Parts: sequence; structure tokens; C-alpha cells
Amino acid sequence: MDFKEELLQKTELVNNIIKGFYPKEEGLQKIIFEAMNYSIEAGGKRLRPIFMMEVAKLFNGFNKDIEPFMAALEMIHTYSLVHDDLPAMDNDDYRRGMLTTHKKYGHAMGILAGDALLNFAFETAADAVYDATDVNKAARALKVLGKKAGAYGMIGGQVVDVNLSGSKVTKEELDFIYENKTSALIEAAFVIGAILSGADDKQIEQVETAAFNIGMAFQIQDDILDVIGDAEVIGKPVLSDEKNEKTTYVTLYGVEGAKTYVKNYTDEAINILVNVGKENVFLKDLIISLINREK
Ligand code: IPE
Ligand code: IPE
Ligand code: MG
Ligand code: MG
Ligand code: MG
Repeated sequence: MDFKEELLQKTELVNNIIKGFYPKEEGLQKIIFEAMNYSIEAGGKRLRPIFMMEVAKLFNGFNKDIEPFMAALEMIHTYSLVHDDLPAMDNDDYRRGMLTTHKKYGHAMGILAGDALLNFAFETAADAVYDATDVNKAARALKVLGKKAGAYGMIGGQVVDVNLSGSKVTKEELDFIYENKTSALIEAAFVIGAILSGADDKQIEQVETAAFNIGMAFQIQDDILDVIGDAEVIGKPVLSDEKNEKTTYVTLYGVEGAKTYVKNYTDEAINILVNVGKENVFLKDLIISLINREK
């Protein structure tokens, strides 16, 4: 099977797994469940849950305990996008090829749908700890999820991103933003996948570093696509960064310079992963495919 076909199959598989954890659309507050499911079912590449599943194969393999964490992480990622698009943040109208949640349901429901996805993610993950075959490992995974999503992770990055919009930004500051707003959730995917498949502490640390590099490459490519991408293909507006006066790798180094960083960060990630656990050719191909991704 070629890589593209395998990716399609895995995306389908992941969609089926995480679907089982979506909230039911019922009750007087039904609208919030509709807005949550609208945001999450809009699609998206499902990269983080795919990573979580594939990283487990480097160690003792994929198991059922991982499934709720895959869903929880995709819910958190989706909430981060819902809030990122709000008028108070990037003020964007399209996401995953559809109207952004606040455009479809109004600003208040946009905020609440994000809040609800975040809470539902932790409810889902906490349930998973309860039911886990190895409660200690699942509790450790839950802590990672909280830290990487919060003010020491994704939210921390978003805070500095918003605060430095419109002002001069150093490379150090920009790297802090990327490491947190983007790498942190990819690190969560890798570290949780490793913990729940029996990796040891050294291996967990190695996959975390690999994920940091993948996240950096991923965000820099996102910056590039914001400038040279096709809005129809990426499913979100282009030139959002310019509109919001964001400093990016493209503003600092130009498109070609930024591309070099994408390649170097990716090479570093691959170099680390070659020495960790079993071989996973698909995972390696996936990471490499992101260098030239168009969406
Ligand atoms: C978008 O993430 C936000 C960034 C961190 C750049 P993705 O590009 O993974 O978005 P979806 O999930 O495919 O929509
Ligand atoms: C956002 O970065 C990363 C998040 C934590 C949501 P961007 O603002 O560049 O993401 P896009 O381009 O809107 O997806
Ligand atoms: Mg943003
Ligand atoms: Mg944005
Ligand atoms: Mg962007």
C-alpha cells in the first residue's frame, strides 16, 4: 500500500475511534453539543491522534487505553482552534473548509463551545483513568495532557503570540511561542502514546524531543502556507498573519529561509526517532510528508 492510501485508511480509523467519544446532541443545552460536534466533525487532518496511535507502535503497541486520550487530545486541539479564530484573537471566518464556530453559532456560543470541548476532553480522559488497565500510567498521561494544554503549554504560547502581535519579536520569543502554541500538543500526542504503550523514561524523553522538532517544523510550514497556500486547500484564510501583524518565520527569514528551517527541524526529529524503540515506517513517512504539505 502506498503512503497516501495508508494515511487515508488511518485517518478513517482514527475518525471512527474518536467519534465514539463525541457528546450526544440532547437536552435543553443541545445547541452547545451541536456546536462542539460541528467544530470537531468539520474534519481536520487528525494528526495528533494519528501520532499518538503510531508512537505506541514504537513500544509495546497500540491498546484500548489510548483511544480516549486520542479523542481528548483532538477535542483540546479543536477547542484551541475555535478560540484562536474568535474576533478577540485571529478573527478568522473559515476553518477546516467551513465557517468558524463563532460565525456559525455566534460569538457567545463560539466561546462556550471551546470551553465545553476543553472540559469534555478532561471528562473523557478522567473516565479513561478510571477504566484503564494500568491506572498509574493513565494518571501520568492525564497529567501530561493538562500540562501541555495549559499555561505551561499551548495556552502559554497563545498568550505570548497575542501579546506580541504588532510589535517587534525576537527569534527567542518566536521560538517560545511555537514551542508552546504548537509543539506542546504534538508533544502530548507523542508522550501519551509512549507512556501508555510502556516506554521507559528515557524513551519518553526522546519522543518528547522529537515531537518538539516536529511541532516547530509544523508551525513554520503553517506560516508558509499562510503566505503561499491556497485557501480552498488549507480550508482557512490565507494572509491571516499579515492581517494580525504577526511576526513569523516567513517575516524573519522569507519563504525560502523558512523552508530550510522546516527541513532541518524535520531531519532532527527523524534522527532522534531512528534510535527509539521499534521501526515504524509509516510514522517516519508521515513526518517527512509534512515538509511539503499543502494543507
Ligand atoms: C492548525 O493545526 C493549528 C496549528 C497548530 C498550526 P492543524 O493544521 O493540525 O489543523 P487541522 O486539525 O488539520 O484542522
Ligand atoms: C495557532 O496558530 C495555534 C493554536 C494553538 C491554535 P495559528 O493562529 O497560526 O493557527 P491557524 O493558522 O489559525 O490554524
Ligand atoms: Mg493564532
Ligand atoms: Mg489563527
Ligand atoms: Mg497560522
